[in-house]
Amino acid sequence: MMNKYSINDVREITIPKIVSPENMGSLSFIEKDIIPFSIKRVYYLYDVPINGERGGHAHKNLSQVLFALNGSFEIIIDDGNNKKTIFLNSPNIGLFIPSGIWREMKKFSKNSICMVVASDIYKESDYYRNYKDFINSK
Ligand code: TYD
Repeated sequence: MMNKYSINDVREITIPKIVSPENMGSLSFIEKDIIPFSIKRVYYLYDVPINGERGGHAHKNLSQVLFALNGSFEIIIDDGNNKKTIFLNSPNIGLFIPSGIWREMKKFSKNSICMVVASDIYKESDYYRNYKDFINSK
């Protein structure tokens, strides 16, 4: 494994939230300086059923920041030694996950949207999809 990130390196990143003084809603934005890598891809999960489970993989080199743009969900992170569950439910709070962290996502609320900004384009070769392979890479 090229890196040794642990679940202690996973952290929340709060992006700005501009609330309309006329009660016309909120605005948040993501600028490059607030994300700890240069963004090469944005994707989002939606239409996830409330019993849906996503993730179930780790990345070899990719870093990501996940946002609950709508609704909420749980993310279980696992570095092979320790596990932790994080609940995301604010469109202006992202979860930074560096490479080498196994993640599982569940307990999606109805109509939730998970937006992900990522440090690279999609490459299947960057995935560990098998937990044993992930553990053996440590
Ligand atoms: P996957 O990363 O397994 O999704 P999740 O972790 O949310 O369950 O991706 C699901 C499918 O979508 C898989 O066949 C790969 C494909 N995919 C792309 O083609 N491009 C992408 O940017 C992503 C994230 C996935």
